[in-house]
Amino acid sequence: MIPNLLWKNEVLYQSKKLIKLYKEELECLGMYEYATNCKEEKNDGAIGGRNEEETKKHFSERFLTSSARVQFVVLDPKKYFLEISKDLKSTFSSGNISLLDIPCGTGAGILSLLSNLAELRQFSKVPRLPISIDILGGDYSKSALDIYVKLLNKIKLELENELIFITFDIFEWNASDMKSTNLLTTQWLKDEDKYEEFYIFMSAFSGVGSSNYKRFEESFKFIQNRICHQPSTIIFIEPNTKESNIFMKLLTKTYNVCLSWLNGKEESTNGERFNWHDEIRDNTAKSEVLVKQYSRK
Ligand SMILES: C[S@@+](CC[C@H](N)C(=O)[O-])C[C@H]1O[C@@H](n2cnc3c(N)ncnc32)[C@H](O)[C@@H]1O
Repeated sequence: MIPNLLWKNEVLYQSKKLIKLYKEELECLGMYEYATNCKEEKNDGAIGGRNEEETKKHFSERFLTSSARVQFVVLDPKKYFLEISKDLKSTFSSGNISLLDIPCGTGAGILSLLSNLAELRQFSKVPRLPISIDILGGDYSKSALDIYVKLLNKIKLELENELIFITFDIFEWNASDMKSTNLLTTQWLKDEDKYEEFYIFMSAFSGVGSSNYKRFEESFKFIQNRICHQPSTIIFIEPNTKESNIFMKLLTKTYNVCLSWLNGKEESTNGERFNWHDEIRDNTAKSEVLVKQYSRK
């Protein structure tokens, strides 16, 4: 079920198109040398950055780690996330979907999701039906949003070859500010009646999410309650770090107590391990992923 180009000898290989895009952007930012030489650090849940220098550094060090985790969940080569991976492929098979990508950062998560869906279509591993995905990316880093826009613009045509039609917009969002979350949600749902499904994609937020949970919790609840009458899914894809485990436990409490009308799925609680090929540093890296999904159909 998985193209050989993406999974070989128990190692994950990222989409060539995504790697090309990433390399071009590193070069454009003058960060290619830095990215090839920087070391894999212990703190897998790095936070990102509000200013331009921090964003460039985070983009160079972490982008591929984030995208590999999402790829591992979407493709599920080890069959750890049977239901979640099946749900992902079924949700993104056809129709009109409105997707909220928070915090979107420079787009590692969403670009991995989209490029892997395109690869599966290209190699006829899933049906190739037209699908429209309207994306709103929210993040408090203006410099990350700038890169996000550039990368999504560049991948748009490649996706169209596989009948994946995206539009996207961005929003400078602060998760600890309810006014900001209210405005983000209003923008996301402005054409609510157009869509059959609403999808919230949250990847790699635990770095800041665990220590700021109390400040973010109201926003999480607000967004979820605002779409309680619609078919919706929220997915959390995180590294397996101390912070992520705390973050996931706090989320479970919020969802079980305050949002219990949603169906939860948690198919991996230990942090599933995998190897992936790092094209930039030319080595095989190890990662671990935690996933959680809640939905209302
Ligand atoms: C590790 S990145 C994750 C980006 C992306 N989702 C991914 O999969 O790679 C974390 C992001 O959280 C953003 N962030 C941190 N605090 C935030 C806040 N209070 N509100 C909104 N975004 C925030 C940072 O700017 C950074 O881009």
